[in-house]
Amino acid sequence: MCQYQPWGPNTEEESKSFVKQIILDASKEKRTRYAFAVVYNKDMIGVGELNIRDFTNKVGEIAYIVNPDYWGQGIATNVAKLLIRFGFADIQLHRIYATCDPRNIGSSKVLQKSGLTKEGKIREDLLIKDGWRDSLLYSILEYEWL
Ligand SMILES: CC(C)(COP(=O)(O)OP(=O)(O)OC[C@H]1O[C@@H](n2cnc3c(N)ncnc32)[C@H](O)[C@@H]1OP(=O)(O)O)[C@@H](O)C(=O)NCCC(=O)NCCS
Repeated sequence: MCQYQPWGPNTEEESKSFVKQIILDASKEKRTRYAFAVVYNKDMIGVGELNIRDFTNKVGEIAYIVNPDYWGQGIATNVAKLLIRFGFADIQLHRIYATCDPRNIGSSKVLQKSGLTKEGKIREDLLIKDGWRDSLLYSILEYEWL
């Protein structure tokens, strides 16, 4: 799950502090972080997040993670679509973007299936466990979503 991420695998303690931080961030006055539990048949199987990166220019970033037992059923694509709808319809963003490791074929497909356009490759912007990582950059604008 965290092969292409700078974090993890997390201990139970690290997972608990991740959740605590989400709850803390949700109560901040100028809220930037909206994290949602992904629930399937009453089990929590993942997380979807929308983070406001720029209030002035109305820019947000989405991210998602799904328990491997549930991969390949369209769940992350549904999560991405719901996050996009939330970002445009509920918090009036203009632009939503997402990045992923070029090796992360599943995530690239999720972003394409959710209507995002590939803008290009950011070079070595993230240090992960096996070294510097490039990121593919995808985005969608409000009027494209409409
Ligand atoms: C990326 C991730 C969220 C996808 O979740 P998911 O619920 O399986 O996604 P979906 O089922 O909506 O779509 C995945 C698509 O990628 C395809 N896919 C997945 N892995 C693939 C691979 N290694 N090679 C080719 N295609 C792949 C699936 O077949 C599916 O395409 P399809 O609908 O055309 O069949 C999940 O793998 C994950 O949680 N990974 C770890 C966290 C992560 O990388 N998050 C994204 C950060 S950028």
